[in-house]
Amino acid sequence: MGRDVIVACDFASAEETFAFLDKFTGRKPFVKIGMELFYAEGPEIVRQIKKRGHKIFLDLKLHDIPNTVKKAMAVLSNLDVDVCNLHAGGTIPMMKAALEGLTRADGTRPLLIAVTQLTSTDQETMTRDLLIEEDIDKVVMHYALNAKKAGLDGVVCSPLEAGKVHEVCSDEFLTVTPGVRFADGDVGDQKRVMTPADAKAIGSDYIVVGRPITAAEDPVAAYERCVKEFVD
Ligand code: C5P
Repeated sequence: MGRDVIVACDFASAEETFAFLDKFTGRKPFVKIGMELFYAEGPEIVRQIKKRGHKIFLDLKLHDIPNTVKKAMAVLSNLDVDVCNLHAGGTIPMMKAALEGLTRADGTRPLLIAVTQLTSTDQETMTRDLLIEEDIDKVVMHYALNAKKAGLDGVVCSPLEAGKVHEVCSDEFLTVTPGVRFADGDVGDQKRVMTPADAKAIGSDYIVVGRPITAAEDPVAAYERCVKEFVD
């Protein structure tokens, strides 16, 4: 899979999601389904969006004992999603078990990427609450390397970390990066942002874009602008 724009469908219901997706009559965007929509609508929302011809990143961030994660991943794999994820903090045995669960009888599987440290965790909370004394940048790169050692395909990270992740883990190791804003757009609650063009220059493989597209007056035009800046 090459570079692509993934639209974060952070909606509370299937109705709102379909009203949004109905606007896209041409190119069908790659969409991200998160916990809110999945927990509200269940696996059927995944099947329906897939049936409409979209690729799907199912962002459920699994983190549990290896056996539980393995079985849960087998269920997600049957939903025929394209990308799913977990917390690298679950350790290498959990990540390996996840890959086993995801792999279908014919050897195919969705891509699997890891969250290293959440971007809502900073140095202070990591040290105070998690008792991790190392530098947060070092921890993020260490977790990314663990994901690579476990056989995963990449990580979710800030676009500002994408270059370093490629350096540490290889150019083929995927970087999926939220925190993207247009140069003339609202930053909202994202703190460290980058434009689609800058994310491309730094080597992000996928950008995850929510409100700059979902809250735009013309979401299709905003999506196409993203594609033009990041992919073309
Ligand atoms: O609306 P916005 O473009 O900020 O949406 C970004 C999406 O990426 C949201 O679904 C958000 O939960 C997700 N995300 C993020 N930062 C992370 C991981 C995921 O913004 N570190």
